[in-house]
Amino acid sequence: MNKYFILCLLISLGLDTYSQNALYIPDTLSGTTFNLNVQASTKVFYTGYNTPTYGYNGNFLGPTLLINKGDSITLNVTNNLSVATTVHWHGFHVAPMNDGGPHQIINPASTWSPFFKMRNDAATFWYHPHGEGKTEIQISKGLAGMIIVRDSTEATYKLPRKYGVDDFPLIIQSKSFDVLYQIATASHEDSIMMVNGTIDPYLEVPKQVVRLRLLNASADRTYYFGLSDSSNFYLIASDGGLLAQPYSTNRLRLSTGERAEILIDFGAYNTGKQLYLKSYASELPQGIIGADSVGTSTITISEGYYGNHLNGADFNVLRFDVVAATANPIITIPSSFLPLIPYDESLATVNRSINLSPDTLSAMSGIQAYVDGPFLMNDKSFEMDSINEVVYLNDVEIWTLTNSTMVAHPFHIHDIEFYVLDINGNSPPPEYSGLKDVILVQAKDTVRFITKFTTFADNSTPYMYHCHLLHHEDEGMMGTFLVVDTTLSGIKNTNKSKPFKLYPNPASSIIHLEFAASLTLRAQLSIIDVFGKIVMSETIKIETNDIDISNLASGIYFIKIHDKYSFYSYKFCKL
Ligand code: C2O
Ligand code: CU
Ligand code: CU
Repeated sequence: MNKYFILCLLISLGLDTYSQNALYIPDTLSGTTFNLNVQASTKVFYTGYNTPTYGYNGNFLGPTLLINKGDSITLNVTNNLSVATTVHWHGFHVAPMNDGGPHQIINPASTWSPFFKMRNDAATFWYHPHGEGKTEIQISKGLAGMIIVRDSTEATYKLPRKYGVDDFPLIIQSKSFDVLYQIATASHEDSIMMVNGTIDPYLEVPKQVVRLRLLNASADRTYYFGLSDSSNFYLIASDGGLLAQPYSTNRLRLSTGERAEILIDFGAYNTGKQLYLKSYASELPQGIIGADSVGTSTITISEGYYGNHLNGADFNVLRFDVVAATANPIITIPSSFLPLIPYDESLATVNRSINLSPDTLSAMSGIQAYVDGPFLMNDKSFEMDSINEVVYLNDVEIWTLTNSTMVAHPFHIHDIEFYVLDINGNSPPPEYSGLKDVILVQAKDTVRFITKFTTFADNSTPYMYHCHLLHHEDEGMMGTFLVVDTTLSGIKNTNKSKPFKLYPNPASSIIHLEFAASLTLRAQLSIIDVFGKIVMSETIKIETNDIDISNLASGIYFIKIHDKYSFYSYKFCKL
């Protein structure tokens, strides 16, 4: 038992500040331009203590972005931190330049302004930092926000969708605080539960059908949600959107990065009734972080894990207080949505295998490598400048995920949503029947999914796939993939007619751009060195014509210019 554990135990037993707090509901931003300021701040989690935090437009977490499918949106992200960050739109189908992965670094005092058309269906997504080796600390200190995408199909169903009235965001996190009440990332000491940044929260819910958007934004904990009276609720959507029909269940497992939309019929209770959303972690199988045993081995390893009172326990996440119904309440559960039609396996042209593997050569030896990591993807650790997989645009692929470690890993892939084909040869359970971008791969499991890599190709900027346990990701359990367009001439250059000229080449201080009339009004320009590192990046407009390159070292560079749908790349020489 160490000092952190004792502190956390005291806090959780409520010797200090135990009380119920009204659940904080993040503000919303809507429209087509979204301004996010990444800032350092403080927040009082415990009376008398200012805990240093990060937030988007505030001191902790960020506003919920409401976006309509089909809109062309611009997100201006200004980094007011003293350290670099990135913002990833988890689940979005966007070009890799706009994805906000480790390669789209936003330096302090600069603004990154991706713009793109919203192509995803109505669903719950989120945004969070994704810097190389920095994801866990930045998310834990408060950088995370929810995104609700709406579309005309979802709008036809009688579903609760009044934000903060009958449709609630629940950003669920477990955190560890050190003795100075600073948010720490000491693994397995995350003994404090919070929802939307509120510890011991309660939420007044109207006596009618209510929609909850669950997001597990914890560093590594998996939850097994249920109501305290164990009555059923209805899962209506997973990561990528609506299921074919609501799935009635009394338990729902959610690993980190996953989202689920559920309906609860509070019409069944009297006003004044209190009940809880709980995690029944005692029912989680061994090997899932949050269960009573971290590995599938009984050997006691993983320092801190067994002292954390949340592991293997059933605990409250949020108290519901049932209040009077609103005007025009939703009182029924829809019986079905649109059928889901996974790609047919016969369409797949590529079978790709990813093994979630232990780093047996690392400092950790023996069995510990299988439980505590670090972990690898196909025996390789993440490297900024390597490409692990190359996918061809518009190919349907089957990915087979195997887990040769002793712990479960939530596998996440960028760019696309996928359909689970089978888990250990069995067709997926109802909760995995819809579109997914995270899937928990348990120890010794084999999971196959099918997807199609559409719309976006880029010969040099990769997308990521990784474990969504944040310390695994930070320690290198991540790989990169390029999506390339084979209808272009090889992967070195495009042979599309380029809508602008660039001269002189070689150049020493200024490069002139000359636009053809057909170019869309705004584009993103990046200059990339031969190692694939972005050395300059700016938004260009039709009136931009001079690019100052005098600060670049002499050598060969690539200039990439992206408009909404395409990119053009040029090689040039800086004298
Ligand atoms: Cu939620 Cu690659 O991340
Ligand atoms: Cu993602
Ligand atoms: Cu992992």
